[in-house]
Order: sequence, then C-alpha cells, then structure tokens
Amino acid sequence: MPIIKGRRMSLPIIQGGMGIGVSLGGLAGSVAACGGMGVISSANTGFREKDFWQNPLRANLQCLRDEIKKALRLAAGRGLVGVNIMVATSQYPQAVQTAAEAGADAIICGAGLPLDLPGLVAEAQNKDVLLAPIVSSGKAARTICRRWDRSFGRAPDFVVVEGAEAGGHLGFKREELLNGEAKPLRQIMQEVLAELQPFEAKYNCRIPVYVAGGVYSGQDVADYIQAGADGVQIATRFIATHECDASPEYKRIMLEAKPEDVQIVQSPVGMPGRALKSPLLERLAALGRIAPERCSRCISVCQPASTPYCITQALIEAVQGNWEKGLFFCGSNVGRVRKMLHVDELLDELCREWRLIL
Ligand SMILES: Cc1cc2nc3c(=O)[nH]c(=O)nc-3n(C[C@H](O)[C@H](O)[C@H](O)COP(=O)(O)O)c2cc1C
Repeated sequence: MPIIKGRRMSLPIIQGGMGIGVSLGGLAGSVAACGGMGVISSANTGFREKDFWQNPLRANLQCLRDEIKKALRLAAGRGLVGVNIMVATSQYPQAVQTAAEAGADAIICGAGLPLDLPGLVAEAQNKDVLLAPIVSSGKAARTICRRWDRSFGRAPDFVVVEGAEAGGHLGFKREELLNGEAKPLRQIMQEVLAELQPFEAKYNCRIPVYVAGGVYSGQDVADYIQAGADGVQIATRFIATHECDASPEYKRIMLEAKPEDVQIVQSPVGMPGRALKSPLLERLAALGRIAPERCSRCISVCQPASTPYCITQALIEAVQGNWEKGLFFCGSNVGRVRKMLHVDELLDELCREWRLIL
C-alpha cells in the first residue's frame, strides 16, 4: 500500500484538485475517509463570501482554512488531505502558508514550476507537510529537483505527472494539443522516473510518482502501476459523485457531455486548457474579447485591460451551474462519465478492477 514518508494511504489514488469550488472539503474529506488522498483546490475558495470581490485574500484564506478543517474532520484520521495550489495565482505564497498551518497533509503545486515551495513552507509552523510538484515533462521534474536540492537540501515527497488528456490548465503548447503531438503520459512518466533517480539516490529515499490525465478505469490504474507508477491522480470522474462540492446543475452538465463536446481553450493564466464547448466560448470566438466587469487580481500574469475574459468569473459561473456564462473545465474522458456515484462506490469500482488485474 502507498506510504509517503511514513504516511499511509490504503489506496493508490489521489483525487485531483479542481477549482473553482469543485473540490473543497466535502469531496476531499470523503476521498481521504476511503483511504485515498483527497485534494482541495485553493483557487478562490472564498468565492461564496460577501466580500470576495472587495477582499479576495481574506475571503480565500479564511475559507481555505475552513475547508481543510472540514476535510480533516470527514477523513477522521484515514487517508490524506492535500491542497492543490497553482503557482500562477497571486495568492500562491499565502495559500501555501495557510494550508501548511491549517494542518494539510500535503501541498501539491502546478500551473507553473514551484521552485520556491520548500522556502514558503519553512516559514509556516507545519514543517512535516508533504510537498509535491505537478510536472508535464522530465525537464520540469529535473529543474524543480535541482533547485530544491541546491536551495533547500531536499527532494519532493512525491510527484504528480500530468499528461495531455487532463482537465483544467495543461503544461503543453496549444499546437501540441491540437495536433496530437504531446508525448504519451506513459513516456513522460518514464522520463520523470529517470530524472528522479539521482535525487532518490542522494537523499536515500523513494519519490513516489502519481500519473494524471485520462485515467478512467481500474484497468488504467493497474496498467500505470505495472509500468512503474505508484498510483494515479484522477479528477474528472470525481465530478460525478454526490460528494463533489459543485452544484447539482454543474454535475448534470458534465454528465450530459459527449466526447465531441470537448475543446482546447486559451486561458488568461497563459496556458492552454481543456473545457466543454459552451455558449461562453462561442461568444468569445465571435467577439474576440469579453471585458471583465471587475477584477480580484487572481492571476499574477493576467492583464485585466487586455485579458480575453475573466477566468475567475467564468469558473464561478460554471460551478454554480450557469451554462450560458460558465467555463467548464474537463478531462478528455468526460464523455465516458455517465453515472452519479458516491465516492466510496467509485473507489470500490476502481479498486476491485485493479486488484483483479494485479
Ligand atoms: C474541473 C477541473 C478543474 C481543475 N482544476 C485544477 C486546479 O485548480 N489546479 C490544478 O493543478 N489542476 C486542476 N485540474 C486538473 C486535475 O487536478 C487533474 O490533474 C486532471 O484533471 C486529471 O485528469 P482527469 O481529469 O482526466 O482525471 C482540474 C481539472 C478539472 C477537470
């Protein structure tokens, strides 16, 4: 069974962080209670607060603390509770410190290279929190490991390798995604495993690797484990669970999506992403730009005066179930998701399948 630095999960499954508001304490706690790692997305957790647009930092950090507390309560000592924090967000350092201090078991960072992550945690009180980058290439893994080694004398506690079939922001060029030129996840995983070896030797540790993006069945879990992964990170399938923190309307939209409804979008975060074709994206294609009505300064590189649209507004509309105005991130497998399940049923199904195979 997966053990990361002495911490035990009974399942080799991480539920991927999903922002805004899709994976909060309810979903993350339920996954942890079953023995996996449940992950809260720190992206604008305070979106329901009255003062969110006036004081996003206060609203987000307060709600992040509350969601971690809720997840830990639901987990009741089983599994692990992680927080996903995007490097590209302007509140990244404060969210890291809040997550560590609130007692999260793990901090997982993507959407940029978390080169300074161990330094940010050193200032928080919880120094035992597990630290993991999300990478989409061997080169990114090497860059992060070298920096953590040189500047902080440590290696990552585990690594998530995210391939081109994932939902949300993607660490590939738009052309690679559109032309099907991105490397297969299995190949990227092998490259990352090779890059981690010198650091495993230096620090006399194993760095577990979890693969993400398009993992759907227990057969997939078994295949990746047989190919050298310690486990998988799955996100899209968890949307169709009763415990997912999004609105029922959001879940209905995802359940009704067909494989051909998926497209690659450009995000103000500066990376491409995968989302459902929707009225918002049609309007954007026709108009070129939908000027933001207000701004919470959420993304470091976003220029409100020229951004094609406000991603925070679009993701908040989505999680609340507004089909007309929402941006609906999804993995490439969304069209295969047909049934609402409880988290324990989904995990049982996956685990029955992979245990039978292995
Ligand atoms: C709705 C949605 C929102 C997501 N939000 C985030 C996020 O806030 N931060 C992040 O690092 N990854 C995010 N992701 C990526 C997932 O955590 C995960 O790695 C990926 O989707 C796995 O592929 P799968 O959805 O095919 O299982 C998101 C994915 C989805 C579907």
